[in-house]
Amino acid sequence: MRALVFDAYGTLFDVASVTSACGTVTATPEPFVALWRAKQLEYTFLRTLMGQYRDFWQVTADALHYTLKRLGLTATDEQKAQLMQAWLTLQPFPEVSETLQRLSHYPRLILSNGSLHMLNQLLENTALASAFDAVLSVEAVRRYKPVPQVYELATRQLGCAAREVVFLSANGFDVAGAKAFGFTVCWVNRTNLPLDELGATPDTEIRTLAELPNLVTTWQ
Ligand code: 2OP
Repeated sequence: MRALVFDAYGTLFDVASVTSACGTVTATPEPFVALWRAKQLEYTFLRTLMGQYRDFWQVTADALHYTLKRLGLTATDEQKAQLMQAWLTLQPFPEVSETLQRLSHYPRLILSNGSLHMLNQLLENTALASAFDAVLSVEAVRRYKPVPQVYELATRQLGCAAREVVFLSANGFDVAGAKAFGFTVCWVNRTNLPLDELGATPDTEIRTLAELPNLVTTWQ
């Protein structure tokens, strides 16, 4: 094992933290956030298929506008700006900071759909910037996960074989894409979901990152 490479949204940072900000535009923020997140990801897949890249900030704003229209809601420009800002202040899951500290003897990287601006702001706002050795964004290849070129950013950065990278994600499509690429994959199955039917089985499955320090000792 040469490095630990983490997905960001849903794996290190809790997307549900945008829920309270959404309370200003809807009385039922949970389904609002679920639709916003689903559309955000759908647009990454579609834009990659269409060859029409827009960065994750734009895709997130587009998904917000769709969600508002679909649910028959309105928001002022200021409210929309506040909802977007919520992506820059997502809460890390409670175990993240301590786990990263305990694993500081390994190179720790982020590989995310997020733009570098979004990721760097989020890391600064959550005081986690120093916990990572590198932040890799799909921006460099202008395509989104799960295309192999995105995962290749990590092997190129590290100068190692795919199987030497332990990749951690909570997102099923990302687990499948990373496994298809050849990474050693650890699924952080936070909400006890069934495995996506994409023909790719992760090497291991954990419930939270708190299990990681013990797990890595079995990989030496
Ligand atoms: C990420 O790339 C998939 O949203 C997830 O951070």
